[in-house]
Amino acid sequence: MSAATDNAATGDTRALPPATAGVPRHVAIIMDGNGRWARQRKLPRVEGHYRGGENVMRIVEAAQKLGIKYLTLYAFSVENWQRPAAEVDALMRLLESFLGQYARRLVEEKVRLLTIGDISALPAHARKPLEQAIRDTANFTGHTLVLALNYGARAETVRAVREIARAAAAGALNPDALGWDDLAARLDTAGIPDPDLLIRTSGETRLSNFLLLQAAYAEMYFSPVLWPDFDGECLAAALRAYAARERRFGKTGEQLARAEDAHAEKNACHHAAGG
Ligand code: FPP
Repeated sequence: MSAATDNAATGDTRALPPATAGVPRHVAIIMDGNGRWARQRKLPRVEGHYRGGENVMRIVEAAQKLGIKYLTLYAFSVENWQRPAAEVDALMRLLESFLGQYARRLVEEKVRLLTIGDISALPAHARKPLEQAIRDTANFTGHTLVLALNYGARAETVRAVREIARAAAAGALNPDALGWDDLAARLDTAGIPDPDLLIRTSGETRLSNFLLLQAAYAEMYFSPVLWPDFDGECLAAALRAYAARERRFGKTGEQLARAEDAHAEKNACHHAAGG
């Protein structure tokens, strides 16, 4: 079991990069609106995807500058296979050319690449460079780009539940002792902290089977901007909105205020003891 998987299994996130105060550690984005961007310009849909693909690296770099440690992008859903074959093919070629163009930049900028979803179903021309880029960036720890490819939250959950059922049937796991951590450790996101902020572009306000379990406490941010136009300033605006929200995790505002006071008091004591 990797150190990353260990973290998810135990809920211990101490080995993960620390969050910068007020900045979400993990931002997940549903990149929507490529088709509409193209239609507005009387261009074929795939042109919108090409522009959307170019925007991916722009946002990866903006996220890095803003101090975001984990960025997850919904690049291809389980349901996207139902699109016309030519569009599916164009998206797979786009992934291949994205990796051809930017895999080296990910290494230079020390960005670790991970995927969620079943990438075994991707065509080899896209899967091979993807696996290579994952290997080449595996040792970076500062920033992580997670591409959701052939991803769907329900399919992911079913895979995890199957694994649990197999372990229970083999007597390796006691169903009565099963907790959330045991399920989380079998999701594709094992070792990745839950998203703090989930953004969807293009004005749609759906989750579309994206990180349904992991986003249980994520703040939602819906931007009217179409994905190819969603730039670093749009991302910064989402982060400002996030910073203004109060995350309660099921508690009351008063409880959180008390916890914050206690935290401040504790830090003040440390300060006094240290100085
Ligand atoms: C949704 O827009 C977008 C997608 C289904 C694909 C997202 C893919 C990219 C942004 C580029 C590829 C990614 C990488 C990593 C190279 P839509 O087509 O549903 O837009 P519409 O709702 O306006 O039709």
